[in-house]
Amino acid sequence: MINRLRSWWKQEQKQTELSISADNIPQHVAIIMDGNGRWAKRLGLPRVAGHQNGMKAVKRTTIAADELGIKYLTLYAFSTENWKRPKDEVDFLMRLPQEFLKLELEELMEKNVRIQMMGLENNLPQHTLNAMNEAAERTANNTGLVLTFALNYGSRNEITESMRSIGAKIADGSLSVDDITEELIQSHLLSSNLPDPDLLIRTSGELRLSNFMLWQLAYSELWFTNIYWPEFKKKHLIEAVAEYQRRTRRYGGLL
Ligand code: FPP
Repeated sequence: MINRLRSWWKQEQKQTELSISADNIPQHVAIIMDGNGRWAKRLGLPRVAGHQNGMKAVKRTTIAADELGIKYLTLYAFSTENWKRPKDEVDFLMRLPQEFLKLELEELMEKNVRIQMMGLENNLPQHTLNAMNEAAERTANNTGLVLTFALNYGSRNEITESMRSIGAKIADGSLSVDDITEELIQSHLLSSNLPDPDLLIRTSGELRLSNFMLWQLAYSELWFTNIYWPEFKKKHLIEAVAEYQRRTRRYGGLL
């Protein structure tokens, strides 16, 4: 019975993977991981249980993305607006990177994953920042999937800061107004070492961007699912990639 179940499950997985083509895998997938709280509430659990299980989905999705050949995975882990949540919940979220890395860093090292953070560093608790810095340092020479945690991240703030920095360079004469191009602005964003996302996924049925990578998502394909983030599995990532492969990207032109 167990063997029959196992072979059915293997077959199922194979069939889902067959539905995507290996030569049009999105290079960069960004995810708004939403629905942790509602998932927990549905099960009668405290909200933080949703975040704890959301952390497990982070691990599953990183491994799945790597297996599918995705090169960059960017996850919205904490927004500049999330500070408005109750202190207990914020404290819990701020401890998750440390816990995640303690549990998963070794395996991610074996998988050659490079970890980095994208966000404002100044008001993060020191222990959160230390955990992210340590992960970034330890994985700095890895050449596989780049896993970026958007932590204390807000896109309008990112764009504003980039404008301030360009403005300061114009004021001191190192740049002129004519130097301002899309490439120059891009190079001043926190994501300057990442290509624009090809595919954005948002879980939990919400149809919003919520101040996430507004500049970078200009031509990304968007995929929304009603699944709550803690339920997200490889098969959902495959579904999103399959849908991405059915879309025709025109970048405003004609084909
Ligand atoms: C949104 O769900 C989710 C968050 C604000 C936090 C996301 C964080 C994780 C999934 C864990 C991150 C893990 C690491 C390693 C940093 P919500 O709480 O807004 O859900 P709701 O809309 O149902 O209330």
